[in-house]
Amino acid sequence: MERIPSGIPGLDELVENGFPFPSVILVSGATGTGKTTFCLRFLCQGAQRGERGLFFTTLSEPVHWMLRFSSQFGFMRPEYIDRDIVYVDLGDQIRSGDPEKILETIDRSIAEVMPQRIVIDPITVVGEMLKKDYRSFLFDLSNHLKHWNATTLVTGEVQPGELYPPEIAYTVDGIVLLLLSDEHGDRRKYLEVLKMRGTAHSSGRHSIDISRKEGLVVLKARF
Ligand SMILES: Nc1ncnc2c1ncn2[C@@H]1O[C@H](COP(=O)(O)OP(=O)(O)O)[C@@H](O)[C@H]1O
Ligand SMILES: [Mg+2]
Repeated sequence: MERIPSGIPGLDELVENGFPFPSVILVSGATGTGKTTFCLRFLCQGAQRGERGLFFTTLSEPVHWMLRFSSQFGFMRPEYIDRDIVYVDLGDQIRSGDPEKILETIDRSIAEVMPQRIVIDPITVVGEMLKKDYRSFLFDLSNHLKHWNATTLVTGEVQPGELYPPEIAYTVDGIVLLLLSDEHGDRRKYLEVLKMRGTAHSSGRHSIDISRKEGLVVLKARF
């Protein structure tokens, strides 16, 4: 199986040297657990290797805000923007409530950019807009994505204590959980690989750290 390095320090050794390529991977976590940071590092790793990346923002963060957020990280280079990493705002399409419009824009952007790496962050707000059409939208979306030679990260925003959004879990090839815990009296963050198609992946929670220089890092110790 072909694999693509995640760019997240410490993660590839947990998943047999990278994410399956092509594939669709869900990165799930409550707000502030590091989903967007994770996805940016994934795209920057690609840019470093000469691959193209496409970042779809949904209703949560406008593109100019994302650019400001991205530029703070040590691994982000200004020259990546618009050359190696293209940002597309799906806000208007999602607000229209028409799944066809959303899929059309995704397809058109992919055809223009021809990315090896794609991010949709977060996918769950689409569910809040589409309601009863969400499941069939996800089915169509994953079919479209599987036609492209790319690894796609979709992020899922969940309530604290919830693991992942159930609607999308069935359609993805892998699930990475970002977790918050209060167990030791202080707030700690963890990563867990819940599933990864065709991969003998590690089980259990791994401590993570988030910093400006490195973004999200998986630490050696396992819990
Ligand atoms: N420059 C930074 N230095 C240290 N921690 C940061 C920095 N930027 C973000 N973080 C941490 O990452 C978290 C936000 O990550 P983010 O990727 O936006 O999460 P999510 O997308 O899951 O809401 C913040 O709550 C903060 O703890
Ligand atoms: Mg985010």
